[in-house]
Amino acid sequence: MPVWKVCGGKRLEGALDVQGSKNAVLPILAASLLSGGVTRLSNCPELLDVRASADILRHLGCGVMQNGGEILVDSSRMTENHIPHALMERMRSSVMYLGAILARCGEVRLSAPGGCELGARPIDLHLKALEEMGAEVRQSGGEVVCRAARLHGAHINLAFPSVGATENVMLAACAAEGETVLTNAAREPEIVDLAGYLNAAGAQVSGAGSAEVRIAGQMPGNAFTEYRVMADRIAACTFLCAAACAGGELRLGGVVPAHFATVTEALRELGCALLTGEDSVLIRADRPLHAGKPVVTRPYPGFPTDAQALLMSACLKARGTSVFVENIFENRYRHVPELRRLGAQIQVEGRVAMVTGVGSLSAAPVTATDLRGGAALILAALGAEGETHIADSGHIMRGYADLDAAMRSLGADISVAD
Ligand code: UD1
Repeated sequence: MPVWKVCGGKRLEGALDVQGSKNAVLPILAASLLSGGVTRLSNCPELLDVRASADILRHLGCGVMQNGGEILVDSSRMTENHIPHALMERMRSSVMYLGAILARCGEVRLSAPGGCELGARPIDLHLKALEEMGAEVRQSGGEVVCRAARLHGAHINLAFPSVGATENVMLAACAAEGETVLTNAAREPEIVDLAGYLNAAGAQVSGAGSAEVRIAGQMPGNAFTEYRVMADRIAACTFLCAAACAGGELRLGGVVPAHFATVTEALRELGCALLTGEDSVLIRADRPLHAGKPVVTRPYPGFPTDAQALLMSACLKARGTSVFVENIFENRYRHVPELRRLGAQIQVEGRVAMVTGVGSLSAAPVTATDLRGGAALILAALGAEGETHIADSGHIMRGYADLDAAMRSLGADISVAD
């Protein structure tokens, strides 16, 4: 099992360009099935989850070539509409293949994504929406089967603005007869990026980024589509919170600061100085931090659930009591007992976590429980005294490209070894 070794107490300083977005590229890779042609994506992060998605595409009969940050997918030939459990379980975002394969083949069979580190993670909203578009859904033996001789456009209102359900509807609707109007849609920037790709591939999607998305049905095939994946807003937040934990001055390039404005605002309240440009952000964290307003996770444009653990690490030594309310997932405080091992004072009561700032943190062996929780442990360790060992069964590499090298380039003392 990989173990991250972090020697805390080193100030971070320097500049880096942030990787392409994991949560954008994964649905776009699934969407590449729809065009029936060749897709060339640039700014793809080199991650375990991206590799898992490429393996799914290959299993389905597509040609996939990865060269650094570029991925070529040739989906002109598809020989399979079934994804076995072993491939599905490698990443949560494989549920996006439900809408994509249904759109392309009229039938899809895949193993139902089970619960995960963050809680139950049901897909009832995805399935209900697909049924409203004419799909027949069956679930048995741990598998979901969706069939539709013909999908039709529909007016779908999501009970909750689920990111995954919004993406699945957008994908299926591209093959439906007639227009689909999706209301209470998720408004995350990754939804806008998926719409950007689909439109480049010949679809007509409008309203992405608002609560009402319209998709004209039956997109024409496209021989060649080129698209650049957006920057990873959560990776950007990871580096900003790292600076807050360790102290220092960082300049992040290639980002869209508006995508993570709630996080920069929260860091300002803690006492960090931030300056945002058009595609860059500068953080200076040289003063002692103090608790800010309660941090409440909500669907975009609210504070992202993915940044909750990261900001919590930044608050561990902040004077006063920092309050967190996690509204998206029921089981998203699994990093808390690990942070306590480093000396953090955190109380959890249901959805609420209260962090009382301590004077110092000290190294201890800890375990990464999930992707962002694992990253939060690295950040806390950057601000702790001594060498922290973080055992990680692969969570962190699912979402960050060469995180150790990037952190080292900023002056951190960090390494990872099997
Ligand atoms: C969520 C985040 C997204 C983040 C991603 C990865 C939100 C709104 N979404 O997206 O920003 O990038 O995790 O960590 O913050 N739900 C149902 N039934 C469904 C689908 C969802 O009950 O069919 C519930 C989930 O259990 C969860 C909530 O809705 O409590 C959010 O789910 P959803 O937005 O679908 O999750 P992801 O797409 O994974």
